[in-house]
Amino acid sequence: MDRLTESRAQWDKDEENISEISENVSGEYFRYKGIPFPVGIYSPESISIAENADVEDDDIFIITYPKSGTNWMIEILSLILRDGDPSWTRSVPIWRRAPWCETILSAFSLSDLSSPRLMSSHLPIQLFTKAFFNSKAKVIYMSRNPRDVVVSLYHYSKIAGQLKDPGTPDQFLQNFLQGEVQFGSWFDHIKGWIRMQGKENFLFITYEELQQDLHGSVQRICQFLGRPLDSEALSSVVVHSAFNAMKANAMSNFTLLPPSLLDQRRGAFLRKGVCGDWKNHFTVAQSEAFDRVYREQMRGLPTFPWDVAPEDSSPDSDPSPSPGQASEPPNP
Ligand code: A3P
Repeated sequence: MDRLTESRAQWDKDEENISEISENVSGEYFRYKGIPFPVGIYSPESISIAENADVEDDDIFIITYPKSGTNWMIEILSLILRDGDPSWTRSVPIWRRAPWCETILSAFSLSDLSSPRLMSSHLPIQLFTKAFFNSKAKVIYMSRNPRDVVVSLYHYSKIAGQLKDPGTPDQFLQNFLQGEVQFGSWFDHIKGWIRMQGKENFLFITYEELQQDLHGSVQRICQFLGRPLDSEALSSVVVHSAFNAMKANAMSNFTLLPPSLLDQRRGAFLRKGVCGDWKNHFTVAQSEAFDRVYREQMRGLPTFPWDVAPEDSSPDSDPSPSPGQASEPPNP
């Protein structure tokens, strides 16, 4: 088969798979080792395949808790791996560029991934591919202010066919704080993964850092990957991964999915793309309730960018080391 026939065949197969998945999602969850997963996209078998898969030393994994900017990071890495050339991001759907480890359409079953393989996962550390921990493969763990995560997830739950209806904002916030949402507790997720801090093949980065300095963050990612880019390529990565560029790119804005999987008539997947939208949503009581749980759960961890209010971030203030600066891994 020539390349064009091959990619046409792949495209047809993708469409078939997507249509099959969209028929199977129900808004119901099953539990795997205690963690809730949406039926139809994941299954106990697909998660077990991810847990037990083989890893190549040059694999690159993007790991996030849902709604932390996973697709932004996929776009950035797709561009970095092509030296800033946007032809890949403009011709191949985002879920094919960095396929998911734990879904029914498992990344590990795809034989046509070019090397280095770029793969995505939302798995908590205890369920992640065991072989990774004895490999040189790289993980980029992207985190985000959990207040913005819960707001983003609330809106996404209204348009995503596989997710439960979020109910009222109050109910949803309680479910989130108790870890009764897909992929379980945000707190357990970050506390599990941040134990990898300090390892050579692990990069912890935040959505907030990307928002504050995308250029510098891309440079940091390139350095971690050992793939320096010249300034033209670097600028191209920044330009083509911007929120509006992604929103205008049919390969990255999820408009190729059917409404039964993602109903963007009711709200966009690329919704606002900002930091601090939670302030437009939380009541004072909700904010206080959130802070109480946050303080309790995050005791002993270093300061994250979202812990430092802009008015506190003057050069004179002396916050505890940020995860990017911490010399020793925290001990949750
Ligand atoms: P909002 O709902 O707050 O807008 P994920 O990819 O993990 O599902 O995360 C989705 C969130 O990342 C959404 O947040 C989305 O808008 C935001 N996002 C995606 N691409 C982005 C970009 N290029 N710049 C900023 N935010 C982006």
